Amino acid sequence: MKPVELETVRLFLHVLAATVWVGGQITLAALVPALRTAGTDVPRAAATAFSRVAWPAFAVLVVTGVWNVLAEGDRGPAYEHTLMLKYVLVLASGITAYLHGRARTPRAMAVHGALTGVTALATLFVGILLAG
Ligand code: HEM
Repeated sequence: MKPVELETVRLFLHVLAATVWVGGQITLAALVPALRTAGTDVPRAAATAFSRVAWPAFAVLVVTGVWNVLAEGDRGPAYEHTLMLKYVLVLASGITAYLHGRARTPRAMAVHGALTGVTALATLFVGILLAG
C-alpha cells in the first residue's frame, strides 16, 4: 500500500472541491429542464441550494490552490505561464458564477451561465495540464 502523504491530502481536497464546483455546475444545468416542470421557482431554489456547497468548494479550491503553488515551488517559465493562465480562468470562473447568480433577465442568466461553465471547464483542463 502506498503511504498517504501530505501531498495526497492536498490534491485530494483540491480535486474534491473541483468535482463539486465543475461537476456540480454540469449536473445542475442538466437538471434545470426537469426542475422547470416542477414549478417556475424550483430551478432558482435548486441553484440557491447548490450555491451553499459551491462557494465553500470554491474557497477550498483557492486555499488548496495556494497550498499547491507553495508546495510545487518554482517549476520553470512554462509552468509559471500556465499558472498565470489558471489564475485568470479561476477569477473569470468566480466572477461569472457570481454574476450568473445575480442575473435578473433570461439573457443575462444564459450568457453568464454559459461563461461560468466554459471557464470552469477550462480551469479544470489547465489544472490537469499543471499537474502533468
Ligand atoms: C475553479 C477553480 C479550480 C479548479 C477547477 C482546479 C482544478 C485543478 C485540478 C483538476 C488539478 C489537477 C490535480 C492533479 O491532477 O493532481 C489542479 C492542479 C493545480 N491547481 Fe487547481 N483548480 C482550481 C483553482 C486553483 C487555484 C485558485 C490555484 C492557485 C491559487 C490552483 C493551483 C493549482 C496548482 C499549482 C496545481 C498543480 C498541482 C501539482 O502540480 O500537483 N488551482 N487544479
